[in-house]
Amino acid sequence: MQVDEEKLAAYFADEPADAPFSHLDRARLPKHVSIIMDGNGRWATARGLGRSEGHKAGIVALREIITASVRLGIDVLSAYAFSTENWNRPAHEVNVLMHLFAKTFIDELPLLRRENVRVVFLGDIEALPKKTREVFEYGLKETAGHTGMVLALAVNYGARAEITRACREIAAEAAAGRIDPVSVDDKLVASRLYTAGLPDPELVIRTSGELRLSNYLLWQVAYAEFYVTDTYWPDFDRWGYVKALLAFQGRDRRFGGLSKK
Ligand code: IPE
Ligand code: IPE
Ligand code: MG
Repeated sequence: MQVDEEKLAAYFADEPADAPFSHLDRARLPKHVSIIMDGNGRWATARGLGRSEGHKAGIVALREIITASVRLGIDVLSAYAFSTENWNRPAHEVNVLMHLFAKTFIDELPLLRRENVRVVFLGDIEALPKKTREVFEYGLKETAGHTGMVLALAVNYGARAEITRACREIAAEAAAGRIDPVSVDDKLVASRLYTAGLPDPELVIRTSGELRLSNYLLWQVAYAEFYVTDTYWPDFDRWGYVKALLAFQGRDRRFGGLSKK
């Protein structure tokens, strides 16, 4: 389906916050939406601001998309916040991000409680700076009993590291005689990934126009639909989200078979 951005924006202009959602077929929403939140730095640079300001603005966008996802009844929303390669950035930027993650998580706990959101982390959070790790562990505990949407935050996440870790675990168990190598199948591998127990993403959205995965969920996105928008992450809002979901609903998902349409 071709979506006319300007028409859509005009259409929604006078509508209340939840209105854009009425254009979606609620029965055909993806169970798991995953977002590569990219473009914070360029958003800031374009405004003559420092990159940190872009990251702060990115938090506001994430809050909007979390709320929208809850309203829509999405089961799982995952978001790529910090990759294993992002350690290569200047120490100052890494520090700003780690501090921002911790602060935001504390600030947003009331929202997560109110909306009954359960947080899980994808990635090695053990290796994060102590304060950030402690806040994340606290948040995990605090939201563990929530029964609503799952918010999976990918922090210090890299798909190759994730798959390697799973292989190592399975190999160790096989060597110890607890697993028969012949019985290793895709379900077993999936059960050793950070996403164990979650459905695979059906829709992956990447902002800022980049046409790459950047080491994100390589295993899990095998049959995901991709949607890329040029919008920088801080400018991504519920209208942009609805456009992505409409595009998803217009896709013919064949899974290697033939079209059912
Ligand atoms: C995404 O925005 C946030 C993180 C990767 C932490 P970027 O910081 O990558 O922004 P650009 O891509 O440089 O514009
Ligand atoms: C991907 O964005 C990682 C996150 C959004 C956290 P990057 O900005 O790090 O990706 P590249 O470097 O453009 O591939
Ligand atoms: Mg980037």
